[in-house]
Formats: sequence, C-alpha cells, structure tokens
Amino acid sequence: MPDVPRLMKWDPEKYLDFADERGRPFAELVQRVPGDPNTIVDLGCGPGQLTRILRERWPAARILGVDSSGEMIDKAGRDNNDPGVTYELADASAWTGRAELVISNAMFQWVPDQLDVIRRLATMTDTLAIQVPNNFDAPSHTLMREVAARSPYAEHLNNFTFRTGTGVETYLDLFAGLGWAVDAWETTYQHILPGEDAVFGWVSGTGARPVLQALPGDVPDDIRGKFEQEYKAALREAYPAHAWGTVLPFARVFVVAQRRLDV
Ligand SMILES: C[S@@+](CC[C@H](N)C(=O)[O-])C[C@H]1O[C@@H](n2cnc3c(N)ncnc32)[C@H](O)[C@@H]1O
Repeated sequence: MPDVPRLMKWDPEKYLDFADERGRPFAELVQRVPGDPNTIVDLGCGPGQLTRILRERWPAARILGVDSSGEMIDKAGRDNNDPGVTYELADASAWTGRAELVISNAMFQWVPDQLDVIRRLATMTDTLAIQVPNNFDAPSHTLMREVAARSPYAEHLNNFTFRTGTGVETYLDLFAGLGWAVDAWETTYQHILPGEDAVFGWVSGTGARPVLQALPGDVPDDIRGKFEQEYKAALREAYPAHAWGTVLPFARVFVVAQRRLDV
C-alpha cells in the first residue's frame, strides 16, 4: 500500500479556510480533559492554530506540537511566538518522549496502524485525548470512491487505498482493555458552509487530497480537473445549496482516556 499520508502535501492556508469548523471539536475535546498537565504533546498539530486553545486552558504548561508535514510545521512556527511552545517535524508513529497529556485532533485517521501507535503512546503518558472524523461512509467519501472507480480515473489509481473510519467502540475497547478509564462519545456537526461547491472546498483541503494528488493534472488530458468536475457535480446533488448555505453533516468520535492510578 502506498504511504498516502506521508506522500501527501498539505496546504495550510487551504486547510484553514474552515478553521472555526475544524477547530471546534478540539475545543470541545479539551474541555473534557481533567487535571492540570505540565507537559502536553499535540500530535498532528497542523498549522498550529489550535495551540492557543491549549494555552488558554493550561496557561503554565509546556506544549510540544508534532506534525509530519513540513508545510504545517513551518506555518505553525511562523504564526506562534509563545515561548512555552515548540514545534517538531516528526511522524507520530515514530515519535518518542513523555508527556502528562497527549492530545490529537483529526490525525489518527491518517495513520494506517493507528491502534498500535496508540498502544505505544499509552506507555508514554497517563492521559490520551483523541478526536477523529468518522465520516468515511458519508456521501462526501462514498461519492469520491464512486467517481474514482470510473474510467479514466481508476487506471491512475491502481495502487491507491482509500481510508476507512474507526468507530468509537474500537477506541473504547482498546482503552478499557488496557484498564484505563474512558470517556468516549460521538457527535454529528451540521456545518453550514458558504459559497459554491462548498463541500468540495471542504474535502479538497483534507480528506480528498490524496486522491486529487494521485491523479495527473497536466494538460492536455487534465485527468484531475475532469475528476474534480464529476466529483463536484455529484456533491452538488448530494448536498444541495440553499440561499443561506450548504449543510455538511460531519460525524466525529471523541475519546479521553486516563490511566487508573489507583489500581
Ligand atoms: C486534518 S489535519 C489536523 C490538524 C490539526 N490537528 C487540526 O485539528 O486542525 C491532520 C494533520 O495530521 C498530520 N499528520 C498526518 N499523519 C501524521 C503522522 N503520521 N504523524 C504526524 N502528523 C501526521 C498532517 O500533516 C496534518 O497536519
């Protein structure tokens, strides 16, 4: 299987087009984390726009943001001058260290062996807080797979593996199995997005990036451009635009797990 996330290039500015909507789950996750950690690692920190949420909640903590994208880490470093924050370019699967809290927003769905990685991280911290999207069976993704299966796109996507979601019960099972206390829940946000082809605008900043980048965008064929047109048309039908915006229902899974210190 090609290593999609690591080959993929992120565009921090495009990702930040929906910064409020993408940041809200992180704020809600942080509210459920108990205690007062002195050291925090934010895995898959992205462009660093969420670091201030950690800082507001824990004013004295030392914070390390880790991300495997050079573009994201550069943007995070440029935009943040908090002396208590460091950013590091590293893969979460290989990262080693210790922190009282390891938190991660919208990253683990990109990590193919995420459950093994989480088990390893559980030896390096006492609290893990995780949010992942669980929208892989939503039209935004099923339509992407449907269009990708058509010719001429399928011929260019021979080795491509589409990602699948991980349900809340899998994380519950993992942490409860380790003997940890688990607080897990699911939420479906109803995002109201402005503008034309708003859902395409959303997914092209994140979930659809690997497939778009796997397709050749060169003239004269511009396979990628043609794919985009077909995918956009399918999305317009599935997510009708209203005068006041386009509704994108978006399911997310949240987990706050703590080692039980009394056993
Ligand atoms: C959807 S963005 C989320 C960014 C930020 N946490 C947020 O919520 O806005 C996913 C981030 O995870 C990073 N990422 C993906 N796989 C990773 C890995 N194996 N190790 C570290 N970071 C990873 C990407 O580079 C990207 O910045």
